[in-house]
Amino acid sequence: MLELSPKLDTNSSIPLYVQIYEYIKNEILLNRLAPGTKLPSIRALSSYLVLSKNTINTAYQQLLSEGYIKSNGTAGLFVEDINNSFLMADSELSNKNYTSSTSKISKKIQYDFSNGQIDLDNFPYNSFKSILTQCINISNKEILSYGDHQGDYSLLNKISQYLHQSRGLICSPEQIILGSGTQQSLSLLSLILKKYYSSIAFEDPGYIGARAVFEHHNFKIEPIPLEDDGISIKSLYESNTRVVYVTPSHQFPAGMVMPISKRLKLLQWAEEVDGLIIEDDYDGEFRYKGKPIPALQGLDSNNRVIYLGTLSKSLMPSIRISYLILPQKLLNLYKNHLFIYEQPVPRLIQKTLEIFMEKGYWDKHIRRCRVLYKKKHETLIHAIKEILSDNVKIIGEESGLHILLQVKSQFTESELIKKALDNGVKVSPTSIYWLNKTHTTMDLPVIFIGFAGIKTDLIYDGIKKLRDAWF
Ligand SMILES: Cc1ncc(COP(=O)(O)O)c(C=O)c1O
Repeated sequence: MLELSPKLDTNSSIPLYVQIYEYIKNEILLNRLAPGTKLPSIRALSSYLVLSKNTINTAYQQLLSEGYIKSNGTAGLFVEDINNSFLMADSELSNKNYTSSTSKISKKIQYDFSNGQIDLDNFPYNSFKSILTQCINISNKEILSYGDHQGDYSLLNKISQYLHQSRGLICSPEQIILGSGTQQSLSLLSLILKKYYSSIAFEDPGYIGARAVFEHHNFKIEPIPLEDDGISIKSLYESNTRVVYVTPSHQFPAGMVMPISKRLKLLQWAEEVDGLIIEDDYDGEFRYKGKPIPALQGLDSNNRVIYLGTLSKSLMPSIRISYLILPQKLLNLYKNHLFIYEQPVPRLIQKTLEIFMEKGYWDKHIRRCRVLYKKKHETLIHAIKEILSDNVKIIGEESGLHILLQVKSQFTESELIKKALDNGVKVSPTSIYWLNKTHTTMDLPVIFIGFAGIKTDLIYDGIKKLRDAWF
């Protein structure tokens, strides 16, 4: 019999069936369980792991419903032949086979609507390159030494001005700590928070990349359902948690924009419970409908909001720059306890970015991106309405660089993704973002469609290919 040896934590708040499900799913995604491998029977695994049959059965049912395994009648359960590279990218997993399997697949992908892409043609290569070369210069020796722990002041100054003008933030450069990406910033924040808080309320569905960081810092995650206008404040009160992570400008992944009335209620919640709000404003620059709504941080007068931003969408993911903006009390804690940590962003890159901003290239780039992404967004919505019409429902189309498609189909999410891929179209799953499956009111599969990376004139054809694949 195939041996499965998950490390199960009976003291964890995560149910055992979820731990088993996660373990087997990862083994499949990492190719350690090859397609066609027969899984142990429910009875055999329950006796091997000394767990109830019900626990094993529930884990298997979840894997079956998500298409990771299939049943061959009385012959038993077998690992499905899923093309795992597309799932892997979204599950934020990595393994040694990743590069080779991705490159094999990418040859087949003609239309890339997957998560995490940006427009690669629009990037101002020449101006960025010339500033970069200008910065690495003998007259600029300081960039070879250690810099300020929080980041170079002149860059932080530029960032605070930009955030004030474009996102309505009220912060001084002293409050900003530069980081090398959202997860690194959240990890630093977790080191500050975990002395005082043990749990974090989390949008459900929510950004798995943030959730993983909190889990790795041993926070208990309290999944809070969403309403049409964002996180449920009622459930937040009921959770008895005092810290919440939210994406108000463009909920990830469901896409709603939190209206000002709810933002004020959220701030009131934080005040009443003596709590904190972690505001992840990951793509707040791109809004297509209605008036811009200021970030929560700018509406807060009680030092309740921790603001987090990234350059991954607005400039490029590979620059690995994020910024954490702390209210005064947390800033003091950071300075007292964590000042030992050096600044992770290279000074050469910091200086380049500073000059890029100073010379107006940054503003110009953001303006161009807004126009470009608006055009792609319009083309996409138009193509979906015309080509997929009533077969799908569009979710979250007001802002950001992705939408969701609820697909009226008898196929599962992974089947839809595989069928799309077989037709040369890469799309991403959403089921990985839900913690509590009862929080989804969506009984049909929901597919993630990113539109930033694909060329505008490929969008129509890509959607036609999806129609051919799915209907
Ligand atoms: C909610 C959310 N926050 C942040 C990010 C970006 O993270 P990073 O700064 O690590 O690129 C993403 C990327 O998709 C995201 O979805």
